[in-house]
Amino acid sequence: MSADLDKIAIDILQANDLGGYTIPTKGLYPYQWNWDSAFVAQGFATFDVNRGWQEIETLLQGQWDDGMVPHILFRKDDPTYFPGPSVWGTQNRALPSSGHSQPPVAASTVRLLFEKDQSATSVERLRVVFPKLLAWHRWYHTARDFDGRGVIAVMHPWESGRDNLPDWDGPAARVDTSGVGDYVRKDTSFVNADMRPRKTDYDRYLAILQFGRECNWDAEKIARDAPFYVADPGVTFIQLRADRDLLALAHALAETAALPEIEEWIARAEQGIDLLWNPDLGAFTTLDLRSGAHGEGVSSASFLAPYAGITTAKYLEPTLAHFDRIMSKVTYGVPSYDPDHPAFESMRYWRGPVWGILNYMIATGFAEIGETERAERIRKDTVALIEKSGFAEYFDPISGQGAGGNSFSWTSAIWLNWASPSRHQQAA
Ligand code: GLC
Repeated sequence: MSADLDKIAIDILQANDLGGYTIPTKGLYPYQWNWDSAFVAQGFATFDVNRGWQEIETLLQGQWDDGMVPHILFRKDDPTYFPGPSVWGTQNRALPSSGHSQPPVAASTVRLLFEKDQSATSVERLRVVFPKLLAWHRWYHTARDFDGRGVIAVMHPWESGRDNLPDWDGPAARVDTSGVGDYVRKDTSFVNADMRPRKTDYDRYLAILQFGRECNWDAEKIARDAPFYVADPGVTFIQLRADRDLLALAHALAETAALPEIEEWIARAEQGIDLLWNPDLGAFTTLDLRSGAHGEGVSSASFLAPYAGITTAKYLEPTLAHFDRIMSKVTYGVPSYDPDHPAFESMRYWRGPVWGILNYMIATGFAEIGETERAERIRKDTVALIEKSGFAEYFDPISGQGAGGNSFSWTSAIWLNWASPSRHQQAA
């Protein structure tokens, strides 16, 4: 079974490879997506390290002059996707793209690639990507932490990668959608509308996008005036781990000039994350930087603190208690939102379903701090979901049904790199 699934996962990655870059799935997502590519590279690297590097290199081709690496690269216009390059106002760029970023997983991937193969060719490749990663991280620490608080904000729910998380509902409700006008969504022609964000969400997504386009994606203007600016534990923890990984890469290359800056980012985040701690809930949540309000629910990103190297008991004990409570409520973990919260919906995207990439990151962090039983439960649940429903985009935590797109790249990638029993036996 597992060997068959290994083969299917490899076939999916190869079928979604459009020549040096990989699309998440055919139909629904016809372009290169940022954090998808970072996970995809890890999947490729299990059987072709060179192809893993290439995925990161093509992703970084889209980098803007200010260091930002966009969340979507529109390598060729595809009318089956909305919103395309002209909506973002980037159609005249050499490589049209969206105007904001996505969780910065890439440096963590590059560290994995480099650790697999430290040949002279790898060192050369690392030398080329290192300054680009450094510039991207610097962009995140300035553009999206404009006041140096040590937490990373997102200016759009799409920037978080967790598009319709219930924690965005409150902050997004203040967005004025009166100028959005008519538009035709394409996502719901591929996937049942009950599994996708609602129309109200989409109106807000487009209104925020319009703000970004009108100010030409100016970081200061966004930090001061964007209608949506919310610090996110997901991006903050992923950034913190990526900074630690970048630091290790800087040491490997003897890039001593970069060390103090990266060390400062890490120190700032280690302090700053306290702002994301919701004391009433006893969990890390979002923090609306406009209103000062915390998100009110535990999400799967609340469990990413160990992945970011945070082991403080004050945070860890309540976090693990939430984890155990939540896992006792579902057949398959980890749900993207707390099943005890009224906003939970088991099949609707980031309001409840299980996502393989989150499972991989949470379990990795848990294993690293010695929480092996919990890490194994997550891995086994992931295996069970994929055995039952294939390489779906996401899964219902109660029924295990697959949802969203099929033959999905990042689900295949985390299978190959982490969940697959054959991989696990090798590692043991
Ligand atoms: C959805 C997800 C996002 C992902 C993209 C492509 O928009 O919310 O995280 O990167 O699809 O898979």
